[in-house]
Amino acid sequence: MERSMHLLLLVAHLTGVATGQTSETIVGTLGDSVSLPCHGIPSNGTRSVVRWLKDGKIAASRNLSSMAGPTGNVHFSVSDQGSLTISGLLLSDQGIYSCNDSVPNHTAEKQTDIQLLIANGPSNMWTDIKPTVLLPNGALFVQKGSDVSFNCSSESYPSQALSWVFQGDTSNSSLLSSSDRSPLEISLLNIQPNHQGTYSCISQNMLSNRTASKSTSLLVYYAPDRHPECFSHAINDSLHLLLHCSWSGSNPLPMLHWEEEPGAHGTRPPVLNVSMTTESLEVTLNRSQLYNGQTMRCKAYNNMVKSEAKFCSITLQSPFPQGNPLVTAVEGSDITLTCTENSSLPPAKTTWRRKISQEEVVPGAKYVISELGPTFSLKIINLTKEDEGPYFCRSENPVLVQELEVFLTVKSSQTYAGGVVGAFIAALIIGIGIAVGTSAYRNRDRICLGSGFG
Ligand SMILES: *[C@@H]1O[C@H](CO)[C@@H](O)[C@H](O)[C@H]1NC(C)=O
Ligand SMILES: *[C@@H]1O[C@H](CO)[C@@H](O)[C@H](O)[C@H]1NC(C)=O
Ligand SMILES: *[C@@H]1O[C@H](CO)[C@@H](O)[C@H](O)[C@H]1NC(C)=O
Ligand SMILES: *[C@@H]1O[C@H](CO)[C@@H](O)[C@H](O)[C@H]1NC(C)=O
Ligand SMILES: *[C@@H]1O[C@H](CO)[C@@H](O)[C@H](O)[C@H]1NC(C)=O
Ligand SMILES: *[C@@H]1O[C@H](CO)[C@@H](O)[C@H](O)[C@H]1NC(C)=O
Ligand SMILES: *[C@@H]1O[C@H](CO)[C@@H](O)[C@H](O)[C@H]1NC(C)=O
Ligand SMILES: *[C@@H]1O[C@H](CO)[C@@H](O)[C@H](O)[C@H]1NC(C)=O
Ligand SMILES: *[C@@H]1O[C@H](CO)[C@@H](O)[C@H](O)[C@H]1NC(C)=O
Ligand SMILES: *[C@@H]1O[C@H](CO)[C@@H](O)[C@H](O)[C@H]1NC(C)=O
Ligand SMILES: *[C@@H]1O[C@H](CO)[C@@H](O)[C@H](O)[C@H]1NC(C)=O
Ligand SMILES: *[C@@H]1O[C@H](CO)[C@@H](O)[C@H](O)[C@H]1NC(C)=O
Repeated sequence: MERSMHLLLLVAHLTGVATGQTSETIVGTLGDSVSLPCHGIPSNGTRSVVRWLKDGKIAASRNLSSMAGPTGNVHFSVSDQGSLTISGLLLSDQGIYSCNDSVPNHTAEKQTDIQLLIANGPSNMWTDIKPTVLLPNGALFVQKGSDVSFNCSSESYPSQALSWVFQGDTSNSSLLSSSDRSPLEISLLNIQPNHQGTYSCISQNMLSNRTASKSTSLLVYYAPDRHPECFSHAINDSLHLLLHCSWSGSNPLPMLHWEEEPGAHGTRPPVLNVSMTTESLEVTLNRSQLYNGQTMRCKAYNNMVKSEAKFCSITLQSPFPQGNPLVTAVEGSDITLTCTENSSLPPAKTTWRRKISQEEVVPGAKYVISELGPTFSLKIINLTKEDEGPYFCRSENPVLVQELEVFLTVKSSQTYAGGVVGAFIAALIIGIGIAVGTSAYRNRDRICLGSGFG
């Protein structure tokens, strides 16, 4: 569209100047040289005398039959072929030129009118994008949400078209604005990440079609308002702790820093002090470096963006399996032992073991193991007297191994007169077990862990 406008202007210009005789237009560039051809000179036969007229007045002439070299001054010269060469073009050289190539008997006269137009530029291109900060590689960056102004100027004679063109990282280039006036200023309000890309100001001389451009790479920097996400889990059979921190949606890549929160570790160096320029940072810690209540903190920041650092943290918790420590059941019936493990961080691996020797319970016809949320169940089928004894709900995470001991008492079925009464008494016994057992366990745990819980 811009192009056709230039063309229209050019045509209008030409027809305005020309008087009907003009057959050719030549555009020269200020300071350069141009050669105007003299058509119709016979290449064989009689050599003629060539005269060049500018706006009807003789500017240069040459007798091509004479051995003498080109005549005229340095500015105008007529070549052996009769063409007029103008060097060091000046604006004043614009005009209608005609070549008068009369042969001696005036029969082969040919005349051509040539309009010479002088163009200059584009030159002195200058662009300014603000408010921005210059990076060492020459790119500019701006904070997301800023209002950015783009200013461009250039010099061109007789006229020019200036345009601002945007080429995004993934998109095709698009014309933002264009004008025939300099400077050309545009602004983008509330700049967004998809405005990151290359901004070029292009100037085209409307007469010579010569173009010049200046491109600037503009980065849009931002950081999320959210906090980073922290999570932990046990790896290598709880020998190690894996800590993961991620913070996406930052440009440029943020700095993530995992550290052990000062405090409990006193004067020893922190076990964790790792920084990296990344969106997600994973670190592994050895079991021997961990304790209950220890807090690991992930700090995320983008120091190119004026916003505060964001944090997330993980406070390690020992496992703490809870449940009835005393369970009584009747021979021949089925019983389900349960244990709840919901305090461990990272989540514990909870298993059932039996007897003082702590044999791992193998699921099968005798034992059914199930898990519902934080509750772990062990169902023992068709109880016999041999099933009596201690069972252990064992929870392990990289911080600690904790066990809940459940003592199962199996009553002989003959002891009870009727099933209903027996079940009632059994329930009563279990109820007492809950009250007594839980508190006994809690007391024991407190003694074991000292001041570890808090
Ligand atoms: C000059 O050349 C043209 C064709 O190039 C020819 O027609 C003409 O007869 C020639 N004239 C002379 C005088 O040789
Ligand atoms: C051109 O030069 C030739 C040879 O020098 C000469 O015979 C002729 O008269 C000259 N013509 C003019 C118009 O000066
Ligand atoms: C060629 O130039 C001479 C000298 O200016 C002039 O007398 C003559 O009329 C011109 N011929 C034509 C066809 O313009
Ligand atoms: C000059 O012109 C006449 C006709 O006007 C022509 O007969 C003659 O051959 C021409 N002379 C030359 C030397 O071309
Ligand atoms: C754009 O640049 C021109 C020329 O340098 C200047 O006069 C004008 O004030 C600038 N505009 C803005 C908005 O900076
Ligand atoms: C980019 O241009 C190409 C061809 O010019 C076209 O096929 C493609 O759809 C364009 N893509 C976008 C995102 O405009
Ligand atoms: C400039 O471009 C236009 C359109 O493409 C063309 O018509 C014109 O001749 C060109 N001018 C020059 C000096 O090349
Ligand atoms: C821990 O497990 C990872 C893979 O999960 C393995 O690369 C690494 O060697 C293991 N470390 C130890 C000490 O077992
Ligand atoms: C963490 O490491 C950095 C360098 O790696 C060090 O400058 C800093 O003092 C360390 N922080 C602590 C608390 O040791
Ligand atoms: C854990 O760290 C201790 C001391 O730093 C080291 O002796 C031990 O080998 C490490 N264990 C593993 C499994 O990496
Ligand atoms: C864990 O489970 C126990 C019993 O179900 C409940 O009282 C306690 O509030 C739970 N704790 C958490 C942190 O969910
Ligand atoms: C329960 O076990 C006893 C003795 O081991 C056996 O006789 C009885 O058939 C079993 N009952 C069921 C329902 O499996």
